[in-house]
Amino acid sequence: MKAAVIRKWGNAEVFKIEEVSQPTPGPDQVLVKIFACSINPVDWKHRKGKHQYLLGAPFPIILGYDICGEVIEAGSEIKHLNEGDIVFGDLDNKYGGGLAEYALGTEQCFALKPTNVSIEQSAAVSLAGLTALQALRDKAQLFKNQTVVINGASGGVGHMAVQIAKILQAKVIAVASGKNTSFLEQFSPDDIVDYTQQDILKIPFKADVFFDVIGNYSFLKTRHLLKPHGTYISTLPRPKILFHKLLQPFTRGKKVKTLLRKHSSSDLALLGKWMETGKLRIHIDRSFPLDKIAEAHAHSELGRTVGKSIIVIATHEKETKK
Ligand SMILES: NC(=O)c1ccc[n+]([C@@H]2O[C@H](COP(=O)([O-])OP(=O)(O)OC[C@H]3O[C@@H](n4cnc5c(N)ncnc54)[C@H](OP(=O)(O)O)[C@@H]3O)[C@@H](O)[C@H]2O)c1
Repeated sequence: MKAAVIRKWGNAEVFKIEEVSQPTPGPDQVLVKIFACSINPVDWKHRKGKHQYLLGAPFPIILGYDICGEVIEAGSEIKHLNEGDIVFGDLDNKYGGGLAEYALGTEQCFALKPTNVSIEQSAAVSLAGLTALQALRDKAQLFKNQTVVINGASGGVGHMAVQIAKILQAKVIAVASGKNTSFLEQFSPDDIVDYTQQDILKIPFKADVFFDVIGNYSFLKTRHLLKPHGTYISTLPRPKILFHKLLQPFTRGKKVKTLLRKHSSSDLALLGKWMETGKLRIHIDRSFPLDKIAEAHAHSELGRTVGKSIIVIATHEKETKK
């Protein structure tokens, strides 16, 4: 099969399009023919070797977690998926494996693609959507009528977090640069703060939750924006957050949290239901063919992606005929 492979850590030029052997599913895995795979910042962090001490260096490595594809083969222990199912999901192999014609995942990685949602949007939702959902609903326990600040509201996680917070009936203050204000208006946040014009640390609001998607504001800097018992939650790596957690006893009940998204087919199914009913819309910024993977990574690394960018790997017959 064709795949975008890396054989060393480095810049986006380390990708090579190669013929590699197709993986074989174990009893608890499904083999999926990939139609599209989205780009997440974690992919280029992996490519640079940032997580090699945690995940090792099992070269050749195929990156890419978020996919949409068709189930080609299901292992003997698979209960809920069948050959021919069109699924979307977040692969649970160490480095993903989605930048290829075929990839493996266990059942928890997938949900059925809603028929009225495009392959591109389905491929782009999983990792960022699970992050936004699990951060707001589970970690921060955001409730109806509470106020949440979302810093980095125009990116992959951010634009889904704005919509999910609205689904949870919270009051949403979206932080983005002025050029993305009109993009964000379609999701009806209650307020938009242009961080190029206004210092977020001086906004005249008190929030129940400060979701620092970008990770450029610490708990220490933002705690005055939180209501008593409010929560600061970040996507930052755990060690930095652990340091701030040590300060928690002195912050009068204010909480500091981080998260690592968990694989969950039921959460994916919920995201799928919201997409099907139009409550969650995934914006595709750019779409690249597999052999332009270096360009796609370079674009993501600029940190200016609006919504998500995806790699199209194959077309699906039924979708093409529509
Ligand atoms: N822990 C986890 O499980 C987990 C999961 C997913 C993601 N993450 C991490 O979360 C971060 C965000 O991920 P993502 O997928 O949302 O990234 P992304 O899509 O690449 O984010 C791009 C967006 O960031 C905005 N941005 C850049 N600088 C900003 C600033 N100073 N203030 C506010 N917004 C700013 C940009 O908007 P402007 O052009 O308007 O500035 C752009 O729209 C990454 O570091 C990623 O690795 C962690």
